[in-house]
Amino acid sequence: MSIAITPEGTRPDATLPPPSPPSPRKPLSLPRLADMHARGEKITMLTAYDATFAAMADAAGVECLLVGDSLGMVCQGLHSTVGVTLDTMRYHTECVARGLHRVQGTAWLIADLPFGSYQESREQALRSATVLMQAGAHMVKLEGGGWTAETIRFLAERGIPVCAHLGLTPQTVHALGGYRVQGRSEEAAAQLRLHALELQDAGAAMLVLEMVPAALAGALTLELSRCATIGIGAGKATAGQVLVLHDMLGIHLGKPPKFVRNFMAESGGIAQALQAYVRAVKDRSFPDDRLHAW
Ligand code: KIV
Repeated sequence: MSIAITPEGTRPDATLPPPSPPSPRKPLSLPRLADMHARGEKITMLTAYDATFAAMADAAGVECLLVGDSLGMVCQGLHSTVGVTLDTMRYHTECVARGLHRVQGTAWLIADLPFGSYQESREQALRSATVLMQAGAHMVKLEGGGWTAETIRFLAERGIPVCAHLGLTPQTVHALGGYRVQGRSEEAAAQLRLHALELQDAGAAMLVLEMVPAALAGALTLELSRCATIGIGAGKATAGQVLVLHDMLGIHLGKPPKFVRNFMAESGGIAQALQAYVRAVKDRSFPDDRLHAW
C-alpha cells in the first residue's frame, strides 16, 4: 500500500475524508427521457455509426444516439437510404453498442429499421426489430404515417420502444419527389397532425419530425404530451434536436442541408464541437429559427 505524500512532503490530514469519486452518470431510459420531456428540458440526439464516435458523443453528454440509415450515404456512398440492408444496420448497431459498453456509456441507443425490413407485415417488423435489439439497440425507429400505427402498437405491446418519423421520410424520397419540406399546405399540415396523433396513440414514445415548418412542429410538440418530438430542420420548439454527426462536424461530400450548423468550425476539436452542440440545444441557441426554419 502506498502512503500519499502532500507536495510539502507531509502526510495528509488523516481526519479528512478521501476525495469522492466523480458521480457516475445514470443511463438514459424511457422514464428519464419522458421526465425530461415533461420538464421541458431539451433532449439531445446525434447519429452515430461506429464505436469511437459513439463513445465521444456519449462523453460529451449527448443523450440519444441514433444509428441512422443515413449511414448509407455517410459511410457507404449510396445516393439514398433505400439500399441499406438490415444486416448493415445490425453491424453498425453492434459497433456503436460496443463503443458505449467500452466506456460505460449512458446514451439511449436507437437504431433505424431500414427500407424493406418492416413494410410487409407487423411480424416482419418484429423479426427485424429483434435483430437490432439483440445487436444492442434500446429502441427502433421507423418511417411513415398512419399505416405504421398497427406495427408500432405490435412492437410496443411486445416491449420494443419505438420512435416514429414523419415529415421528410428519406426512405420514400422517390415518392416524395426529392428532399423537400413537408406539411406546408393547410391540408398537408392537418394530415401530418392526424398521423402524429395516431402514432402517439399506438405507443410511439418519440417522433422525429424532419423538414416541417417550425410552427407546425411547435404546435405538434404541445399537443403530443406522451411522445417527445425530435426535430431536424423543424425549428427550435420541438422537445429535442437531432443532426447527422458528420454534418454538424462539417464533414460531407456534397452541400449540407440548410438547417445544419457546423459546430466544428467554431470549436477547437471534435470533443469540443460535440459539447458545443449539447450546450446549444440545451440553451436553445440551436437551431436558430431566423436562419433555418421554413
Ligand atoms: O437516418 C438518419 O440519420 C435519420 C435522421 C436524419 C433523423 O433518420
